[in-house]
Amino acid sequence: MDWGMKNRISRIIKPEIGRTVMLAVDHGYFLGPTTGLEEPRKIIAELLPHADSLMLTRGMLRTSVDPMNSVPIVLRVSGGNSIIGDDLSNETITVSVKDAVRLNVSAVALSIYVGGKYEHQTLKNLATLVSECEEYGIPVLAVTAVGKEMTRDAKYLSLACRIAAELGAHIVKTYYCEDFEKVVKSCPVPVVIAGGKKIPEKDALELAYNAIKDGAVGVDMGRNIFQSHDPVGMIKAVRSIVHENVSAKKAFETLKI
Ligand code: R5P
Repeated sequence: MDWGMKNRISRIIKPEIGRTVMLAVDHGYFLGPTTGLEEPRKIIAELLPHADSLMLTRGMLRTSVDPMNSVPIVLRVSGGNSIIGDDLSNETITVSVKDAVRLNVSAVALSIYVGGKYEHQTLKNLATLVSECEEYGIPVLAVTAVGKEMTRDAKYLSLACRIAAELGAHIVKTYYCEDFEKVVKSCPVPVVIAGGKKIPEKDALELAYNAIKDGAVGVDMGRNIFQSHDPVGMIKAVRSIVHENVSAKKAFETLKI
């Protein structure tokens, strides 16, 4: 791995502890004005000081983030569908690597849909993106997206994560599940978890705690932070779990809800 690649990864996964709190606000790329993200600039400004990186689309980056910001950017570069469209897995690469370089991002993110209607297309997208990004030393985060009809068990998620790593992804994002440690063990690159749909704060913190305990290097969490009654409190609570191994119970007690 070359210097630039290592340097960019170390901006996201903090080398001192090997952990990361990624803030995901890219949902609008297929959900439109997602609850909690109606005014992206405002919520991003509030949450950014507590995030190790920010994951979002090119449009949101340009319009809603101060270019003087020093928090590393993870740019979503796949899309091309919507929640009311034909099939969520029908994604393409939406941003050139040249533009990602121009935007000075620390990594790019792309979804794969293993078992989905357009599985082959999304896996090909990943392979193509990794090959292009290797030329510039830009890490690729593969998002193991799960369609409505797909299960989220260890067998399926291990399959998706391992394929992502085999195709060259540098970091993999997946969902927490029973026997999650098996998913992590069979994936040779760092794994972060998504939070998924909004659930009670206590449960989301337990999810983060268990994921770390079972081997995830961190979270790439969105709705359970920006849709919380106390978004800033929630990201700080998640951060204390990821970075300081605070228990979910103790982290929950700090919330103003
Ligand atoms: C999909 O919409 C995106 O990749 C999200 O960033 C991802 O699902 C993480 O966000 P959440 O914690 O809301 O699931």
